[in-house]
Amino acid sequence: MKGIILAGGTGSRLSPLTKVTNKHLLPIYDRPMIYYPIQTLVKAGIIDIMIVSGKGHAGQFLELLQSGKELGAKFSYGVQEEAGGIAQALAVCQDFADQEKVVVMLGDNILEDDVTLAVQDFEQQASGAKIFLKEVDDPRSFGVAEIAGDKIVSIVEKPKTPKSNLAVVGLYMYDNQVWEVIKKLKPSGRGELEITDVNNYYVEKNQMTFSSLSGWWGDGGESFDSLLKAGNLVAQSRQ
Ligand code: DAU
Repeated sequence: MKGIILAGGTGSRLSPLTKVTNKHLLPIYDRPMIYYPIQTLVKAGIIDIMIVSGKGHAGQFLELLQSGKELGAKFSYGVQEEAGGIAQALAVCQDFADQEKVVVMLGDNILEDDVTLAVQDFEQQASGAKIFLKEVDDPRSFGVAEIAGDKIVSIVEKPKTPKSNLAVVGLYMYDNQVWEVIKKLKPSGRGELEITDVNNYYVEKNQMTFSSLSGWWGDGGESFDSLLKAGNLVAQSRQ
């Protein structure tokens, strides 16, 4: 399976930290943010990884990460011309994926869990997609899943009145239907191609499975507080 890390977007919620650099290059404790999703994929055996960034900062990623050898990976680079949403950034990777299944991770997500077993489960899954859920106190700033038994019934992006406290983590696995699904998406109210719409396609086809995270999960790009919290979680885990 191939890996994809999405590191585009404007990072406007962290301005002025993101005025001259990309959000995913900001420090989380002792490493640039993007090192953490890379480590999560490499630990799970995914080493052929494409990194997508916006056109203003692509050179910085190349300078920092180079071939990937130092991190035990092999990197390809892609550029998203405008910040039109997570699904639009993913579309840049179709040729790279070359019909293989893909593991997609958002460049601002930091996970304590080792996801190797879930990745292996998805390799065995005949078709469809798999996502990760995590219970959170306030799910309103995430995609939120409603489940019945071991099935996901629906996912709503940033609901005002969430139906559960199960946030959708920024780590997704898809089969090669994903490219056709993205082509049919329409921009949401915030003008973006939403990854939640991609996920709901699989939910409706009854081809979506999920795995629950047990360790902590940080979304470093959400706010100054989440950036600080992610750094503190990493620092504590090193002690
Ligand atoms: O962190 C998990 C959440 O991530 C999910 O629960 C939500 O369902 C999902 O929509 C997403 O929500 P965010 O509001 O946190 O997404 P954000 O716009 O911050 O983008 C997250 C990452 O995706 C960002 O670090 C880089 C990448 N991205 C985003 C956009 C909008 C791109 O590569 N290109 C883009 O155009």
